Amino acid sequence: MAIKNVTVIGGGLMGRQIALNSAIYGYKAVVYDKFPEVLDKVSAWAEEYLAGRIAKGRMTEAQVAATKANFSVEKDLATAVKDADLIIEAIVEVQEVKSAFFREVGPLLKKGCIIATNSSYMCSSLFKDDVPDASLLCNCHFYNPALVMKFVEVVQGEHTAESTAAAVMEYCKNTGKHAIWMKKEIPGFAANRIIAVINKEAKWLVQNGYLTYQDIDLACEEGLGHPMGPFRLADLTGINLSFTMMDAEYKRTGVKPDCYDLFKEKYDAGDYGRSTGKGFYDYTKK
Ligand code: NAI
Repeated sequence: MAIKNVTVIGGGLMGRQIALNSAIYGYKAVVYDKFPEVLDKVSAWAEEYLAGRIAKGRMTEAQVAATKANFSVEKDLATAVKDADLIIEAIVEVQEVKSAFFREVGPLLKKGCIIATNSSYMCSSLFKDDVPDASLLCNCHFYNPALVMKFVEVVQGEHTAESTAAAVMEYCKNTGKHAIWMKKEIPGFAANRIIAVINKEAKWLVQNGYLTYQDIDLACEEGLGHPMGPFRLADLTGINLSFTMMDAEYKRTGVKPDCYDLFKEKYDAGDYGRSTGKGFYDYTKK
């Protein structure tokens, strides 16, 4: 089935960008969030972003008008998903919350609607009993900032129909992405598994007093040529996200992850990184 209408669930850092990118490339894109005040912020953010595109000469007035006609926010879940050919779930990285959402949305979907999760680590098979038809379920993992980053991982589990993964690959291609099609599930997929190895070593070095996190970022950026070291990257992706995952690991294993206290301190202070103006670095000063 050709995808025309896309509903993104969660209007946070990722969801809003995935939806707006879809609208820019001609898809009808709706954003739903459980918290209506988030949707007001999404609308204001989209206005500002698109005005900036015109100001920078990156989009014409006509392109922006077409994008606006494709893009909307919706506070009622049933209305938000009723015409969707594809829903992309981008809510908090907590398995129970995602499971509960899939159970709630399943009965509201039209026949044949594909369900993709943007989870950073969780394979879609974790949710196969929460959806009406698991053959229509897969991972579609975007990178932040999703309006800019071209790389996407489409992950086909054993439960996923080939046609589902193929349709999501097509959607990615049509929205300017370079997607890889993984035909074997593994948590963390491709790029996050690779970066996880660097993060683990970086946190171990800081935890054990060999280096500061600033030293680590310098080593990665100026020694290895990475665009961002792991701590600066955590500021971009959100310390809230990193800490949620570290906390889940701690609860699951009983072993405190390296740098847990450092991340917890930032998390408890509400210093999530760029989104709040402060994290490992201060973004309030130019
Ligand atoms: P976020 O915290 O910025 O946004 C999550 C949004 O979901 C919030 O607006 C919240 O109100 C909403 N929400 C929570 N529960 C909900 C529910 N039951 N129904 C509807 N909306 C609900 O999170 P972010 O960073 O956008 O991450 C979302 C997902 O994307 C996570 O699974 C994360 O692992 C994944 N991801 C995040 C990346 C990043 O760099 N932050 C990169 C790639 C994937």
